[in-house]
Amino acid sequence: MDIYTIDIEKELEVLRKRSELVTNIDQELVDYTNRMIRSIDGIGIGLAAPQVGRNERFFVVHLDQMDPLVFINPEIIGTSEELSSYEEGCLSIPGMYGDVKRPAAIQIQAWNQKGRPFKLEADGLLATVIQHEYDHLNGKLFIDHLSDRKKAKLLKKYEKSVG
Ligand code: NI
Repeated sequence: MDIYTIDIEKELEVLRKRSELVTNIDQELVDYTNRMIRSIDGIGIGLAAPQVGRNERFFVVHLDQMDPLVFINPEIIGTSEELSSYEEGCLSIPGMYGDVKRPAAIQIQAWNQKGRPFKLEADGLLATVIQHEYDHLNGKLFIDHLSDRKKAKLLKKYEKSVG
């Protein structure tokens, strides 16, 4: 799958858009999310639909030692007051990393590939990656959580890296 990156104007437009609700969890969507899971194998731990060109509200997460998770029409329904910081990266801004502070634990509800609703409580890296992917559905990138100075620096460095 071709993963969209921010240096290509048309792709950035998709990445910056708020995604629409999924209206139908059908076989096409199931196959598509399975392809997304395969496509990040060995290169990442999460991927959101806008990153592969679909402005629809779903994403996949696959951490080591865990079965892959698919979140369709997710909603974060609770966040802890406690924050934690992780160095985040994004397949849409390859090679760039920055420390992002987010709620340390979250509660999320979504639909799975079988079209069944579920709730999940997550903390640690799982909470971070879920929030990172959730942001993608609202056109938000991890760099938006950095200070203006850090963001500008990172973008400059990225521009250089893609030539
Ligand atoms: Ni990302």
